[in-house]
Amino acid sequence: MQEKVALVTGGSKGLGKGIASNLASSGVTVIINFNRDQESADAVVHDIREKGGQAFAIQADVTREEEVNRLVAEAEKQTGRPINIVVNNATGPQPEYSLEEVTWDDYLDQLLFTTKAPLLLTKAVLPSMKEEKWGRIINIGSEVVELGNAHFSNYVTAKSAVVGMTRSWASELGEHGITVNAVHPGFTPVERHGEVSEETETSYLRDVPLKRMGEPQDIANAVRFLSSDDASFITGQNISVNGGKTF
Ligand SMILES: NC(=O)c1ccc[n+]([C@@H]2O[C@H](COP(=O)([O-])OP(=O)(O)OC[C@H]3O[C@@H](n4cnc5c(N)ncnc54)[C@H](OP(=O)(O)O)[C@@H]3O)[C@@H](O)[C@H]2O)c1
Repeated sequence: MQEKVALVTGGSKGLGKGIASNLASSGVTVIINFNRDQESADAVVHDIREKGGQAFAIQADVTREEEVNRLVAEAEKQTGRPINIVVNNATGPQPEYSLEEVTWDDYLDQLLFTTKAPLLLTKAVLPSMKEEKWGRIINIGSEVVELGNAHFSNYVTAKSAVVGMTRSWASELGEHGITVNAVHPGFTPVERHGEVSEETETSYLRDVPLKRMGEPQDIANAVRFLSSDDASFITGQNISVNGGKTF
């Protein structure tokens, strides 16, 4: 993994931070992409470097094509190498709406992150991945695809697109040595969730066989494995990391 460069979108906090730190601990040079929170991104970079890893923070709104192209160019300039691993993780706000409340624009807001940003980024790194005949694209989905949560159809629909998109890209890119997989986390409390109430936790855990909430490192471990050569014969897969809540 030591010669690889990974780009983690939304790497400044939450699961992205865990994924970036985990990859860096395997020797991967990591680009921490963020949109607004420079301070948090810098803190992740600082933490990785303190532990002997290599990381750079680069601001870019990954839902905008010109910014994605700048992000990739800047990443290659800073590391002096092409990007080998892309983790499409960034997310915006995830409001819950009933069908009466939700609008088409609310659907589009989610699709920006689950399909538009991954598409822009993948297209931007594809030439170098094809040239190297090696690449890893890992899309972060969600267990909601299987749970089908009510009052959340904007998010559930958009995350469902990740499943088909991952399989289609895998079919197209396999012959170039590029694998494409999706990791579907369960409820994994991060900064934005604040304090999760005991009632919420108990109710969520009722049908989780492993009887605990997810931690960012659970998701990060799966991403690291899929990024490695050990996963070279795995592509087009949708892997749930949620203690068995869905099968
Ligand atoms: N945590 C969970 O329980 C859970 C469960 C299932 C699936 N997921 C999925 O896991 C992924 C990470 O979720 P999370 O909970 O870790 O989210 P989070 O803590 O809210 O972090 C979101 C990240 O995305 C970045 N971001 C937001 N808008 C962006 C943009 N336009 N361009 C670039 N970066 C942008 C944020 O950076 P700034 O703060 O700098 O803007 C931040 O680093 C998402 O795809 C989410 O749907 C999470």
